[in-house]
Amino acid sequence: MAEVLIDGYGDNLSVDGIKIGDLTPHEHEKIEKEKGGQNYSPLENVVISKVKDSSTLIARKPHPDDITKYIEEEILDGLCCYSAVNQGQLNQTIVKAVIKHLEEEKLPTVPRSIRHKYMSAFLLSATAITGMDRVIPKVAGVESWELSFKICRRWGYEVKGIPANKAIVVGATGNFHGRSLAAVSFSDDPDSKENFGPFVPGIELVPYNDVDALRHLFEEKGEYIAAYMVEPIQGEAGVIVPDDDYFIKVSELCKKHNILLSMDEVQTGFGRTGRNFAHQLFGVVPDIMGCGKAAGGGILPVSFVAGRDDVLGLLKPGSEGSTFGGYPLASVVGTYAIKVMVDANLAEKAEVRGAQLMNNLRDIQSHYPDKIKEVRGKGLLTAFEMFDEKSLDGHKVSVGLMDRGVYAKETHRTTVRLAPALTIESEQIELLSNAVKDVVASL
Ligand SMILES: Cc1ncc(COP(=O)(O)O)c(C=O)c1O
Repeated sequence: MAEVLIDGYGDNLSVDGIKIGDLTPHEHEKIEKEKGGQNYSPLENVVISKVKDSSTLIARKPHPDDITKYIEEEILDGLCCYSAVNQGQLNQTIVKAVIKHLEEEKLPTVPRSIRHKYMSAFLLSATAITGMDRVIPKVAGVESWELSFKICRRWGYEVKGIPANKAIVVGATGNFHGRSLAAVSFSDDPDSKENFGPFVPGIELVPYNDVDALRHLFEEKGEYIAAYMVEPIQGEAGVIVPDDDYFIKVSELCKKHNILLSMDEVQTGFGRTGRNFAHQLFGVVPDIMGCGKAAGGGILPVSFVAGRDDVLGLLKPGSEGSTFGGYPLASVVGTYAIKVMVDANLAEKAEVRGAQLMNNLRDIQSHYPDKIKEVRGKGLLTAFEMFDEKSLDGHKVSVGLMDRGVYAKETHRTTVRLAPALTIESEQIELLSNAVKDVVASL
């Protein structure tokens, strides 16, 4: 029988005699290329090692003179794990809560078939902060969307009275809700779908931010439509912010046609856009919403669905479940992720630092109007889009930023998203902006 010898911690962690701390960036890349799935193409020549402070990481890069060695540099984290670390890397309030509960409180691991006391803390916190009647914990962000999708269909049959198996769920073009089969069935990104079919039926897409298209579809097929499931701001599509009145009109249309408004706040929630949840920017209240990413404070994958009693209350024992959704450690982390968002005024911080960053980006645009086409964002969910020209390549920007000690990543070829931790300091915003200016100038 095959065996493996694992020993030590951190840089001294070794697997079958290979010490992790000895590996160069090239060797890490080689192991990933040989042993891992090839579904990502991470930035070349850099390996993250540890945290220095809430927005600074320590990265290993190849030694300029010796390929058998590496150097270590500080990297400003301009992406914070795609908004999973809004509370800042290794947020000490959450870390202390985890350590205290594991070491002193002797936190158990139990499934949902028996109650544990931390679930109450999480449900009380999550219903209070979302203003929703009920919350159902899940693990990854996509699971919160997938469960919302199922609940919307069930509501369509049991409340709205859609004939069996005829329910339609409407989405927006350019959407991103994750990688499950239902989520990629919902997507119009061909790369996410190639040879994964057949896909989940009963899905229709309308252009994002186009009320007329939605009205037309609702008028044509409204009696079969259970829900419109949509991101308040489209993150992966390149931070696409809808018109100020879009969601007011969407909400009115949904009410008129008895259709649920389901919002995916996985990337936009937890203070990111300058409000606790982005739908609050637009003056609407969804019937059901999904959260993930920063719901786990960057420490654990925690997600949840929140919604009205008459919607979430349709689930019965046996219809849905998750071994790790809301298990004791996740409940503690989820509760403290909310506590930090509230106590540290993260939404307000995002609004202030976001305005600073957007001003800087607009200033850069005014210096390089031939290169930067648009600057977009709300709070600290920001992006700049370059003109579609060969020299204006987002990957080149990401590499250039890394050379200048900043981590950010292109989304699509010409757009670069900047979404640092909401705890970022004013000077760090200036550092980030100066690096962007320098790279854009060099293109
Ligand atoms: C809006 C949105 N929904 C869902 C997801 C999926 O989250 P996860 O990768 O945790 O499954 C993402 C991830 O980027 C997202 O941005």
